[in-house]
Amino acid sequence: MSATLDRFRRPLRNLRISVTDRCNLRCRYCMPEAEYVWLPRKDLLSFEEISALVDVFMSLGVDKVRITGGEPLLRHDVPTLVGMLAGKPGLRDLAMTTNGVLLADHVAALRAAGLGRVTVSLDTLRADRSKTLSQRSTHPRVLAGIASVAPAGFTGTKIDTVAMRGVNDDELVDLIEYGRTVPAEVRFIEYMDVGGATTWSPDLVLSRADMLATLRDHYGEITPLRNTDAAPADRFALPDGTTFGIVSSTTQPFCATCDRSRLTADGMWFRCLYAMEGTNLRDPLRDGASFDELRELIGGIWSARTDQGAVDRLAERDRMPFVPVDALRSNPH
Ligand code: GTP
Ligand code: 5AD
Ligand code: SF4
Repeated sequence: MSATLDRFRRPLRNLRISVTDRCNLRCRYCMPEAEYVWLPRKDLLSFEEISALVDVFMSLGVDKVRITGGEPLLRHDVPTLVGMLAGKPGLRDLAMTTNGVLLADHVAALRAAGLGRVTVSLDTLRADRSKTLSQRSTHPRVLAGIASVAPAGFTGTKIDTVAMRGVNDDELVDLIEYGRTVPAEVRFIEYMDVGGATTWSPDLVLSRADMLATLRDHYGEITPLRNTDAAPADRFALPDGTTFGIVSSTTQPFCATCDRSRLTADGMWFRCLYAMEGTNLRDPLRDGASFDELRELIGGIWSARTDQGAVDRLAERDRMPFVPVDALRSNPH
């Protein structure tokens, strides 16, 4: 089925669903405050409501769904939602992004429920640094969580590392070596000026170019791989064939091929990571809107989409060098 296209001919294909706003870590670049006021339970979409919205999104072209948070494993019984989504014919990819703290406890149930892939956030291999970065002493549990993924039968696991200058920029090689043992593909993410990143500054951004220079110094030649998907990461291979990725949303935004949108735990739909305004889907759903009415609402909004938040952000800044998205991106949209 052909996906709904926006004004820049980008398809509606990839939906990221937050199942809770809560998190059990306080990463400095994401949720740095000691206390947050969490959403009340009644405001959260139920699993049935999420499933109904996924049906609508799938009818408009979505075939990739990622369950996120906050920390998704804090939502009670999330494997039940996984089972509901995994059973939908036409869903090509069902993944979860987790901080790993609770992963070992749930990995078997997630696998049994039909989850396809897991991505775990890991910024450092050093417990002391992890404590500084996440303001919690959970590092051993995160490593145990990551170690539990392959034995549970998952393949295609990824590790997401936000690479920050002067914070963890001396661990790029160690993290790749660690990824080999899991096994998991490590993706280094440029620090983004988004969300809770209250301490963001261009000086903290370790650029894709810097990362490649460091890795080239250590490993020798690095071969760019063609991107087969609209995934945000550019992928590379080391001389021995080990692959890794870089998500350079800060210095080389991938807005031109962005097929993703996100649904918050309380049912707001955002067309862009940087969008300040979203569409309330929960109220029409609870007011009894039909499948076709929701389809028209969502399809109409996507068709008018012109968001390119990371590109706009880059244009606003004067200190970062602008490097256009390069020819590695083979996405035709
Ligand atoms: P796969 O490639 O299918 O595994 O999914 P993914 O890369 O989208 O998943 P993941 O949640 O691991 O995203 C990786 C990182 O890309 C995130 O942690 C963000 O830093 C960044 N990212 C994800 N979505 C967006 C987006 O819509 N816009 C921007 N600018 N960055 C994003
Ligand atoms: N910059 C880059 N990535 C971020 N994430 C959250 N906040 C930021 C930010 N400011 C991403 C990280 C983390 C995932 C849950 O969200 O990849 O691993
Ligand atoms: Fe929690 Fe992830 Fe944000 Fe860290 S990055 S505070 S683990 S949601």
